[in-house]
Amino acid sequence: MTEAILLVGGKGTRLRPMTVNTPKPMVPAAGVPFLTHQLARARAAGVEHIVLATSYLAEVFEPYFGDGSSLGLHLEYVTEVEPLGTGGAIRNVASRLTSGPDEPVLIFNGDILTGLDIRALVETHETSGADVSLHLTRVEDPRAFGLVPTDPTGRVTAFLEKPQTPEEIVTDQINAGAYVFRRSVIDTIPTGRPVSVERETFPGLLADGAHLQGMVDSTYWLDLGTPQAFVRGSADLVLGRAPSPAVPGRCGDRLVVAGASVAPDAKLTGGTVVGAGATVGAGARIDGSAVMAGAVVEPGAVVTDSLVGEGARIGARTVLHGAVIGDGAHVGADNELRDGVRVWCGARLPDASVRFSSDQ
Ligand code: GDD
Ligand code: MG
Repeated sequence: MTEAILLVGGKGTRLRPMTVNTPKPMVPAAGVPFLTHQLARARAAGVEHIVLATSYLAEVFEPYFGDGSSLGLHLEYVTEVEPLGTGGAIRNVASRLTSGPDEPVLIFNGDILTGLDIRALVETHETSGADVSLHLTRVEDPRAFGLVPTDPTGRVTAFLEKPQTPEEIVTDQINAGAYVFRRSVIDTIPTGRPVSVERETFPGLLADGAHLQGMVDSTYWLDLGTPQAFVRGSADLVLGRAPSPAVPGRCGDRLVVAGASVAPDAKLTGGTVVGAGATVGAGARIDGSAVMAGAVVEPGAVVTDSLVGEGARIGARTVLHGAVIGDGAHVGADNELRDGVRVWCGARLPDASVRFSSDQ
């Protein structure tokens, strides 16, 4: 059965402060570290051996997932001394692969929530005889991604990572962050220095005439790299719009993880998750948000499309809309925080200290 590499070593800068204490793949989505969903989906597709390529905050993965047996997986961990980039990370774990030179190896970015049919990608790879096959998806604004134009047969004609000029925006098809590599291609990536698979390996392979095959599909797809996307992804998992066998409970409007305490008249909607040991007070309203373990939302607070970090406290009647509250931060009562505000871990905001509206 096909084995896989998961790239989980990025710094997750765009998701700060959620990634100050926790690497992006370990930030909880729908009540469990996001990576759990990817591992469970790979397992459901028949993958048994997965090597995690770690770097930033590498030490937290193994204590949580261990040898992977609780997920029916055989997990291994390889940590880079210095971050090696996406291509360097792939090459750096090659010694742990058991596949022969012509066998397919799956590779996943560690921050993608998708309904991709993983087996179909492997089948496309095998029937096309490609050196590398890539899952592609269409997005409205491709600028933050790798652009991947293809010919009518699906063969990749160029790879343009994060285009800078309008002329480079030649397609709305982007690299969706799941690949199948012929094993021997992995062994050609240089060792011992940082390599970007997107900026160096793919363009280099194309220049050498290698066969890169794209598989476009329109299933659910989201890169959880920003707070806005992360909270959307978590809510979609809770709502059942994004498929995962690892959601710890029944899908629906809300998910209250065991050990959380929610006042009977609090209103949780839109795929809100309340983590273990968290408390939601009387009359609070939480919509489309993720309240992490041990956090406290006091009575009458109104929280929408927001991330509330571990052990954070949201004061009574405070309004959060599109906000990120770092682990252990205390937002006093009667504050109003909106539109992309990030409160750092451990910060203290006094009562009624930040408002958007002019009422007191
Ligand atoms: N081990 C290791 N070492 N992993 C890394 C490193 C590293 O030095 N750098 C990044 N990663 C991991 C990240 O943890 C993440 O899982 C994955 O590689 C991709 O990195 P991101 O930082 O999330 O990249 P991106 O979102 O800007 O762009 C990538 O994903 C897009 C799709 O979401 C590219 O692959 C784009 O081409 C693609 O369109
Ligand atoms: Mg990403």
